Amino acid sequence: MNKKLRKAVIAGNWKMNKTPEEAKELVRAIVPAAKDADCDVVVCVPYVDLFPVLEAAKGSKLGIGAQNCHWAPSGAFTGEVSAPMLSSMGVQYVIIGHSERRTYFGETDKTVNQRIRAALDNGLSVILCVGESLEQREQGVTAELVAMQTKIALGGVSGEELKRIIIAYEPIWAIGTGKTATAEQANEVCASIRSTVSSLYGSAAADALTIQYGGSMNAKNADELLSQPDVDGGLIGGASLKPDAFAQIIKAANR
Ligand code: PGA
Repeated sequence: MNKKLRKAVIAGNWKMNKTPEEAKELVRAIVPAAKDADCDVVVCVPYVDLFPVLEAAKGSKLGIGAQNCHWAPSGAFTGEVSAPMLSSMGVQYVIIGHSERRTYFGETDKTVNQRIRAALDNGLSVILCVGESLEQREQGVTAELVAMQTKIALGGVSGEELKRIIIAYEPIWAIGTGKTATAEQANEVCASIRSTVSSLYGSAAADALTIQYGGSMNAKNADELLSQPDVDGGLIGGASLKPDAFAQIIKAANR
């Protein structure tokens, strides 16, 4: 695999953290690290923080993302936010199919696919999350499960549109638990995702696809995880709320 073909992307997933005031402060602390980065740096923030964060990051290299979007452009969907709403604000990225959405909010492979369609139709780049539970890993179905999630999510996505997709491999058992996948485990599944994408779009498209690892990535383990041949970056939860740790992860991706 040729890592030089693709740019590393380090993305912070703030989850349900930070008030608008706190968000501005955190983003100001992250902007300098993004400035010196060789990789792309993104923060995916709660909806109410998007405006202040876009303002605070103006003129910087930091990409701004949301953590979900609905599949319809507008309508009677109380509590939801649409892709045109996000893109009209200047948001560039959106996380789709995070395991917390799948586990706590009934997100299915089908709705993940529908939300991706809406995001792409509105010019957004997508961070698509896939990954297995501990039980599924122990049952030995990780590769098949992740292939299925990937295939269903990418249904109807063209080769041209694939250029706006990042896939984040996030083993559910490693998220927020302090238990990181080993570098070998992370690389093995990222490579299997790349081969699934290759079977769908061909090897050139698969070689150009950014595949992140996510799940308790931190300043200490980032170096080893990010040096794996098929790991092209990280989706970082807890450590993305700490500017120093996040800056160190960005540095690890630069090497
Ligand atoms: P974590 O979260 O880094 O806190 O494990 C990762 C994620 O859920 O995206």
